Amino acid sequence: MEIITPAKRKELVIGLFGFGVVGQGVFEVLTKTSSFNARIKKICIKDPLKKRRFSETEFTTDANLLIEDKEINVIVEAIDDPEAALHILRRSLEKGKSVVTANKMLVASHLEEIISLQKEFGLPVLYEGACCASIPVIRNLEEYYDNDLLRSIRGIVNGSTNYILSKIFNEGIDYNHALLEAKQNGFAESDPSLDVLGTDAANKLSLLLTHGFGNIVDPGNFIVEGIKRITANDIKHARTQRQKIKLVATIRKTDENKITALVLPQFLNEGDDLYSVDDEFNGLVIESSFADKHFLKGKGAGSYPTAAAILSDLSALRYDYKYEYKKWRSNEYYEFTNDCQLRIHVSSLSVEHLPSDRFIEIEEQHCGPGHSWITGIINASQLAGHDWWKHEELSVIGCCDLFADDIKDKRIRRLSLRLAGV
Ligand SMILES: NC(=O)c1ccc[n+]([C@@H]2O[C@H](COP(=O)([O-])OP(=O)(O)OC[C@H]3O[C@@H](n4cnc5c(N)ncnc54)[C@H](OP(=O)(O)O)[C@@H]3O)[C@@H](O)[C@H]2O)c1
Repeated sequence: MEIITPAKRKELVIGLFGFGVVGQGVFEVLTKTSSFNARIKKICIKDPLKKRRFSETEFTTDANLLIEDKEINVIVEAIDDPEAALHILRRSLEKGKSVVTANKMLVASHLEEIISLQKEFGLPVLYEGACCASIPVIRNLEEYYDNDLLRSIRGIVNGSTNYILSKIFNEGIDYNHALLEAKQNGFAESDPSLDVLGTDAANKLSLLLTHGFGNIVDPGNFIVEGIKRITANDIKHARTQRQKIKLVATIRKTDENKITALVLPQFLNEGDDLYSVDDEFNGLVIESSFADKHFLKGKGAGSYPTAAAILSDLSALRYDYKYEYKKWRSNEYYEFTNDCQLRIHVSSLSVEHLPSDRFIEIEEQHCGPGHSWITGIINASQLAGHDWWKHEELSVIGCCDLFADDIKDKRIRRLSLRLAGV
């Protein structure tokens, strides 16, 4: 009797869209894992004139040749155009093909539709590579943390901004040079403004929120700040405190029923797990009621790390794995809120731009020639949906202890001292 090993169970015949950083990574990784029982039948690209490393017969610019091909049972989508990608995804499912994608903008912006298409056609869309590349987080949040009560997820989720900040802090390389290096290494998005303005991190945050806590929130509702407006003064300030600045995405329960999520550059102390996550690495700190704390670290961008996640999704297709979106479907509902107290640092070249009146409490203030700043507590609703803090004269960075939970205690302490006449 023949033993049916998982590898023999289902041959994956792949139609690959995109042959850039990720597409080529998938091609090479599959070539190197011959035991995998999967083959790429055709590759669809955009520019027929671009020189390719492999025989021309494998390439086409006609998407239909992949989508209509009855032998192809999986579409791997690795293009840099989210609208075209949505069209490819819809048509592939209609034609009975499972889809694996690394396109976070596509998934974050159209998640409800993608969930309903999966249900309609009974086929999976998997996207582990869309969130922190090689870190296996989406399936873990779906499966491992299913019964555990998650409290928070915070992490460095964008490889190229982390690469840039690491070069600035560790090697003294300037911003433009570091961005160029990130592009050359294939860490940056085709449009790097998505990285440096924090959009890419917000898209990933939205996926973490859905799979971790069950909320589908449009990334436009998050407070999002990138790294572009961090100044030389801010870097100097961090160095004098023996801190680094990292772009951190945070999800946190604000009480039993409410949850908040935001992307901000943040000062980090040496003791913080994320402090030593450097270069193109990503890191995630997941806190839950019973497991306490987990720290995941891995390469968050680049050809092979992303291809590794895609390979893992392809492997999951072998046993007909689908995301169940259990937390989203459950009745345990968290209301998304921007009503919480944040401790932030706002700096400017001149004191007159500092928004003192926005703070609930100013904890420290400095006015000096060419650099003034305030550190204090602000309600996050002062930032969400407002653009006063995006003023070109200002930069906003989260403090090490970003969530000012201690504000109530501080008030009580102050009141007691006042009543005691101190
Ligand atoms: N780079 C990373 O580290 C990384 C990590 C995780 C996820 N991702 C995601 O993976 C996707 C691809 O990123 P990438 O870095 O590989 O981009 P890339 O290097 O710029 O490559 C994009 C590829 O898409 C092709 N393309 C664009 N529009 C197309 C269309 N309508 N039909 C067919 N092919 C089309 C391009 O064709 P031509 O070759 O003809 O120009 C190119 O091969 C993006 O969604 C990105 O967000 C990237």
